[in-house]
Amino acid sequence: MGGALRVGVAGLGTVGAGTVRVLQTHAALLAARAGREIKITEVSAKSRGKDRGIALDAYRWHDDPRALAESNEVDVVVELIGGADGVAGEVVRSAMAHGKHVVTANKALIAHHGTELALAAEKAGVSLAFEAAVAGGIPIVKALREGLAANKLSRVYGILNGTCNYILTTMRASGREFADVLAEAQKLGYAEADPAFDIDGVDTAHKLAILTSLAFGTEVNFKAVHTEGIREVSALDIQFADELGYRIKLLGIARRTENGIEQRVHPCMIREALPIAHIDGAFNAVVADGDFVDTTMYEGRGAGAGPTASAVVADLVDVARGPRVPAFAVPAGALETLKPAPMAAHRGSYYVRFMVVDRPGVFAEIAGALRDHAVSMEAILQHGRAPGEKVPVVLTTHETEEAAMQATLAAIVQAGAVVEPPRMIRLEAF
Ligand SMILES: NC(=O)c1ccc[n+]([C@@H]2O[C@H](COP(=O)([O-])OP(=O)(O)OC[C@H]3O[C@@H](n4cnc5c(N)ncnc54)[C@H](OP(=O)(O)O)[C@@H]3O)[C@@H](O)[C@H]2O)c1
Repeated sequence: MGGALRVGVAGLGTVGAGTVRVLQTHAALLAARAGREIKITEVSAKSRGKDRGIALDAYRWHDDPRALAESNEVDVVVELIGGADGVAGEVVRSAMAHGKHVVTANKALIAHHGTELALAAEKAGVSLAFEAAVAGGIPIVKALREGLAANKLSRVYGILNGTCNYILTTMRASGREFADVLAEAQKLGYAEADPAFDIDGVDTAHKLAILTSLAFGTEVNFKAVHTEGIREVSALDIQFADELGYRIKLLGIARRTENGIEQRVHPCMIREALPIAHIDGAFNAVVADGDFVDTTMYEGRGAGAGPTASAVVADLVDVARGPRVPAFAVPAGALETLKPAPMAAHRGSYYVRFMVVDRPGVFAEIAGALRDHAVSMEAILQHGRAPGEKVPVVLTTHETEEAAMQATLAAIVQAGAVVEPPRMIRLEAF
């Protein structure tokens, strides 16, 4: 066996403490797999006195993680602090500049600065590994980078945020509204006190930007992700989706189109016959389509101490074993500039719900707007007509262009045909 791989863990919160626990629990197993001991030497967090439920006495403590990043007693820095900028970025950059490998779970950092960091890693001759940054315990980074290396990928998509999936699943099961279920999820610890990153789709977009780069060999381009969250999803839409044979999921989708690479995050209606429609609760799933392998799907827990630490430690085993693979599957200098496909040019089918007051002429106004923008209707659904009261009218369209759909909705609002803003959810055929 070679000399021990000396690990410095910066950040001892949910994932950091989980990582220490895995390394302590499976020391012998990991040493056998890696061919050498994987040994924590130094740790850092904000408050030294905090009880983290793990023994830390054997490790040198740093109040400042930047000191850990420079330490001569550390071969690999595990960054589990978080944040796209600030101290996490400083720790990662400094560690690499000091010739140390980096393992991180920080999707925000990789989504914003992934290309630059991969270049820095190659320049320094060190590994940059971030399996834990996407879909927690699911080894999707390795699957795309190594397992599917033989394929040209056409599409990758998935349920990448457990909080959103938990909320949507609970809304469907209970018939309750979004705000109510969110409040409960916060009480149960399934949603953060500040849930914006999750429910507004930003966390999913971070992960999608990373998957896109791995799948298509393009520079990480988080800014090009079209991002919508789940705040607008209502119990009524979930009920209509059920009736039409669909489930509503927040998906991150990246695919090649004739206009460039599309990256989008938004609620989708997917046929309930699809396996991914049944990934419920806090689970994540990713589907990747390759030209030779066809469709592959990966499922598992997307967050939490155990699953995320599992991914962090798998990266450490890789680092301990030695030979390096490029962070994004091709050398960072060879990553292509991503040409973003404009969302306005997206083609797909749509579900739209209008709230109308049942009066003569309303349907003619809606039909007229559809006709004017060449949007063709597939089905229409209306329940309970109560003259003078507002009622929902739901329609689905055949494939059309996003720009035409948006213009149609604007025209319907303009004509005064509806009493609330229309709700639009994209149908994904897959
Ligand atoms: N939680 C998950 O399930 C999950 C899943 C996938 C990826 N991730 C990613 O993993 C990373 C860590 O997440 P987490 O949930 O473990 O966060 P967390 O529980 O909030 O832990 C953050 C840790 O960083 C420490 N820290 C914060 N600022 C610091 C500073 N200036 N100097 C030194 N230490 C500092 C904190 O110290 P104290 O403990 O002393 O406050 C804490 O130990 C994030 O990038 C997150 O996106 C998390």
